[in-house]
Order: sequence, then structure tokens, then C-alpha cells
Amino acid sequence: MYKVAAIGGDGIGPEIVDAGRVVLDAAGERYGFDIDWTDFDIGADRYLATGELLTEDDLKELSAFKSIYFGSIGDDRVKPGILEKGILLGLRFHFDQYINLRPVRMLAGTQTPLAGKGPEDIDFLVVRENTEDFYVGIGSRFSGKEHRDLEVVRDIYSIKFGLDVESDSEEIAYQIGIISREGSSRVMEYAFDAAMKREKKVTSVDKANVLSDVYGLWRDVFTETAARYPDVTTEFNFVDAVTMWFVKNPEWFDVVVAPNMFGDIITDLGAMIQGGLGLAPGGNINPQGTSLFEPIHGSAPKYKGMNRANPIATIWAGSLLLENLGEPEAAAAVVDAIVQSIAAKQTTVDLGGTLGTREAGAWIADAIRNK
Ligand code: IPM
Ligand code: MN
Repeated sequence: MYKVAAIGGDGIGPEIVDAGRVVLDAAGERYGFDIDWTDFDIGADRYLATGELLTEDDLKELSAFKSIYFGSIGDDRVKPGILEKGILLGLRFHFDQYINLRPVRMLAGTQTPLAGKGPEDIDFLVVRENTEDFYVGIGSRFSGKEHRDLEVVRDIYSIKFGLDVESDSEEIAYQIGIISREGSSRVMEYAFDAAMKREKKVTSVDKANVLSDVYGLWRDVFTETAARYPDVTTEFNFVDAVTMWFVKNPEWFDVVVAPNMFGDIITDLGAMIQGGLGLAPGGNINPQGTSLFEPIHGSAPKYKGMNRANPIATIWAGSLLLENLGEPEAAAAVVDAIVQSIAAKQTTVDLGGTLGTREAGAWIADAIRNK
């Protein structure tokens, strides 16, 4: 018996999580485990009613779970950033989910915009650092005399750019990215361990040619970690170049390890080359603690409640959840059943089928039960 917390969230979130739950329950029936689901009412509706994003009670209750199955957040009635930072980033940081695992894998039967590339070419894992970099939330905006509050910024601006920082018309903003040895080393170890079970190649992504302090440290830690895995081939790519290679030669990649913000950006590109955002799953993993599994797409408010959204990204995220629980067979069966549903055109309309969210999920669940 596994206890799993479910947070549907906003927009299409509740529908896709419901579809995923049916699939994971079917996997449990077939592979001999039960999932005991607990629903959490967290999201825009509650925020608008009570002003609460994540409460102390939420966090305390959630900490009793190893897994959180998460839909999506984001709602037109709330200013962008509030729910994202208050809920999703809040959970990732609170539970120190330092790995953001994002498989980029083209499933048989799907289409990629990259002519001539197929499922054998597009199959890699992005391991995104998930707690540091520009996501630490340290920054500010200043104008006029307030500049003097931050001497470093004042000095840099007056010396480098000749800016008159005393003038009220000047305004500046800064945001600090932090990389730590500990923070990068734990995510790199995860990446190298993952590569040992795959093609034994790890590509590090950074921008050390310009942001040489933060990503210089990142590179050093990468080199040191690599030394402990002599069987693994390694490579450095600058983030701008990696976007080019993802499109031109996706077959080069096996495991890609990236700092938080670059990881965010390149995994949307990864989602696109694997066939679209409707197919891309993500895991926010703390190997010793509470992990959260979600589609990497957002809440698509305009499709809310229409039973139209493609549940595959969420169902695949459920497969990552099962893998993390130590059920690799059931996890693989979920992905196989997804592929079967695509081959049989038993999908939502975006993939050429005619099914609703619920029906597409139920078809995949049946395929697992009948395996
Ligand atoms: C993602 C999203 C989030 C991120 C947002 C919603 C905070 O884009 O999961 O990729 O930037 O990490
Ligand atoms: Mn993103």
C-alpha cells in the first residue's frame, strides 16, 4: 500500500490528475499494490477565497507522503507569479526536491517536427537542478537615492556605466543567481548514476563563458564528479549551443545536467522535439524525502472542465512516480500502455484521436489491466 497525495490545482489540472489516478490504480491492480490517495485543496480557488497559498498545515500533512501527484497551477484571475512561486516553487523548495527529472523521449507513433528523426534518436534525460540559480529569489528594484542602500550595485553602476545613481530618474533591478558546491554536486551525482544505467554519457549545460563565477563553480564540480565515473563520457555545452544541438542532433544526448533556469528553458524545447507539451512529464525528486510528479505543461485555463486536455504527460509523470516508489515494472507498463494508446489512435484530439481526457486515461488503464 502506497500513500500518495494528490493536488489537482488549477485549470485542467484536476481532470488530468483524475485520468492519471485511474491509470496508476490499474497498474496497482495488475502489479499487486494499492494506492491510498489523499486529496489536497491547493490552488487558485482557495487562494482567492482565503488568501492562502501553502499553509503550515498543508506542508506538515504533505511531509507524511513520499509522493505528491500534481496537476498544474495558474489562473487568469491571479497575477502571474503568485501561484507559481507560492505553490509550485514553494513545494519544490520546502521539500528540497533538488532534482527536476525531465525525460525527452519520442514515443513510437508520435510526430516530431524534426524531419528524419525518430524514437531511436530522441531519447534522453534532462536532470535539472531545482533549488538554486536564479530561482533563489534574491533580488530587488531600486530607484534614485535608494541605490545607496546597496553599495555593490551602486559602485558597479557608477564605475562601469557612469550612471548617476543619485538621480531620481534612474532605476535599476538586480537578481542574484547562486550555485553551491553541495547543491550542484548532489544533482550531478544523480545525473551520473542515471547515465550508468543508460548510454553512459553526460552533457553539462552552462554559460561559463559569460557568467563565469556561478557556472565556473558548476563546471568545476562537474569535472570533479566526472572523475569518479571513469566509464562515463562527458561533454560541456553552452546553453545557447545546446538549443541548437537538441534540434539538429538530438541523438547525441543521453543524460543532460543543467542549472535551474537553463534547465527550465531547454526542457520546453525538449518537450517540443519529443512531440509537444502534451507528452512531456516531470519529476521533482528528493531521493530521501517527499517528491512531486507533474506534467511540465501549465494549467491551460481555456480548456478547464472541457474533458479535452491530453492526459498523457500526467500519466507518464505517474510512471515516474511509480519508478520512484520502487515499482519499475509497473512504471514501464504505464509507458507501454501510453504507446499502445497512441498506436491505436485511442487518444485525445491533439494526437489524432477522438477521446476525451477521461476516456483516454481509461483506455490506458484497461491496456495495463489486460496486459
Ligand atoms: C516549470 C515551470 C515553473 C518553473 C514555473 C511555473 C515556476 O515553468 O516547471 O518548468 O519555472 O520551474
Ligand atoms: Mn518551465
